[in-house]
Amino acid sequence: MSGASAPGRFLTFEGIDGAGKSSQIAGACAWLDARGISLEQTREPGGTPLGEQLRGLLLHEAMHIETEAMLMFAARREHLAQRIAPALTAGRWVVSDRFSDATYAYQVGGRGLDAAKFAALEAWVHPDFQPDLTFLFDLDPAIAAARVASAGAAPDRFEREQRDFFERVRAAYLVRAAAAPERFCVIDASRPPADIAAKIGATLAERFFT
Ligand code: TYD
Repeated sequence: MSGASAPGRFLTFEGIDGAGKSSQIAGACAWLDARGISLEQTREPGGTPLGEQLRGLLLHEAMHIETEAMLMFAARREHLAQRIAPALTAGRWVVSDRFSDATYAYQVGGRGLDAAKFAALEAWVHPDFQPDLTFLFDLDPAIAAARVASAGAAPDRFEREQRDFFERVRAAYLVRAAAAPERFCVIDASRPPADIAAKIGATLAERFFT
């Protein structure tokens, strides 16, 4: 999907709710911007007008687990077509708060969706395409839950899940990372924010600027 002369890169940030991705995404985008990288910041589910409507349903409406998985991929199909592919083709970088690893972690790991059904949807929606680099924020769900609670916002359908759900999500993320170690950078999200930002900057420098 990348342009021949100035290939864009696709970077994703993953982790359980409350792992602290959001502020680090902003920092990573600023780091890239300072190096002259033209980029788009986006998120899943969402990133397009239709995807944002699907996000509203996914975060707040009860639904069958397979409906949930298919809507995640429906939003993703739109995101790829409308934003991700055009940006990469034009040589811009795309930084996304979540992508298909989240579906593997939350729907397969957390909810128990058949892994073969996930694999079929992934192969349908983005065959031969994965992020160039994925930062996985790994954190004890007990710490993450305390962070979500202290943020004070009304919890969505996922944030209301119990500790054991997030234990399964965390474990599934780590399985996915172990299966593609060249793509993943696993971050100890219990570290101070400045340490995490330094690790992200060092990883970006090593992967893309040496
Ligand atoms: P997120 O944007 O991280 O939530 P917040 O706005 O609270 O920071 O993600 C929204 C939720 O959607 C999150 O709980 C994880 C869930 N999700 C899935 O279950 N599967 C997916 O494929 C994606 C992309 C997100």
